[in-house]
Amino acid sequence: MVMSDALQTTQQEALQQLEAINDAAALQQWKTRFLGPKGVLRDLMSKIGTLAADEKKAYGQNVNALKEALTSAFDTREALIAQQTLAQDLEGGEVDITLSGRPAARGRIHPSIRTLRDFYTIWADMGFQVYRSREVEEDDYNFTRLNFPPDHPARDMQDTFYTTQENVILRTHTSPGQVRAMEAMGDGGSKPIRVILPGMCYRFEQITARSEVQFHQVEGLAIGRNIRMSDLKGTVTEFAKRMFGEQAQVRFRASYFPFTEPSMEVDVECFLCGGEGCRICKYSGWLEIAGSGMVHPNVLRSGGYDPSIWSGFAFGMGPERVTMLKYGLDDIRYFWGNDLRFLEQF
Ligand code: DAH
Repeated sequence: MVMSDALQTTQQEALQQLEAINDAAALQQWKTRFLGPKGVLRDLMSKIGTLAADEKKAYGQNVNALKEALTSAFDTREALIAQQTLAQDLEGGEVDITLSGRPAARGRIHPSIRTLRDFYTIWADMGFQVYRSREVEEDDYNFTRLNFPPDHPARDMQDTFYTTQENVILRTHTSPGQVRAMEAMGDGGSKPIRVILPGMCYRFEQITARSEVQFHQVEGLAIGRNIRMSDLKGTVTEFAKRMFGEQAQVRFRASYFPFTEPSMEVDVECFLCGGEGCRICKYSGWLEIAGSGMVHPNVLRSGGYDPSIWSGFAFGMGPERVTMLKYGLDDIRYFWGNDLRFLEQF
């Protein structure tokens, strides 16, 4: 009983003192005095050892209740004083509320994404839907169904990231999406298709100024009943004009890909020098922007289409490459290097 009175007296005294405090320094002194490691409360708690066994529990609970009451009163007082201090500073002109704030760092659209978005807009205007195919792909789709036989030397063109699971790889190009799109949208090889397949690709290569282990591609695929080479040339030429300007000249060069026949590489006249020859186009006047061709009959079959009825064209372009050409960048490592000095220029 006597002890309990002592606790009550302490509580009254402490709260009275607290009420009178109006500045942060005095507040801290109060805290040290009552709640600190050598404070009144610690002292009261240590008395527990002198009590009879049957009194200990109740006493301990009371001291704890007191501690809680004082702590919460302290928090309330502290908040109040902080508020008053701020109000005084504002009135007294200590805080200049007219000072403009620190600018928040603004996120930016990555240059690759910018180019991708330009691609999407242009291809959407030309009637191409976006179809997103998987990045973790089966070897079968990445190669075999695209007319690369298992021991075909063209498999050497791409160094592949294999996984621990047999037949599961990271796609080395977006072309396997052609077969995926035919399967998903062709309705058993009975419907025309017009899609672009954008996404990340991976190759197990030495990272240099010209090659990275990851990069985007945008694949295009059109399947129909009378699609001819002239459709491919017209469509890609129109894309180039919308992307690089009405004056853009396009040329097609014979090439080879296992999944197209015939195959062509697409060049645009160098938009930096207007075809005169410069460092970026290596003094050729032309910039390579895409691989393309007529979909190989075996690939049409892979996707469930009968090549005696259906035909199609395909193309694949690299947005990083286009971005490099557009901005005159000479090192592909900037793209995933996360250097703000590079990213903040866009
Ligand atoms: N997949 C090829 C590559 O990664 C690019 C390509 C070439 C895609 C020709 C195509 C195409 O669709 O027709 O190098």
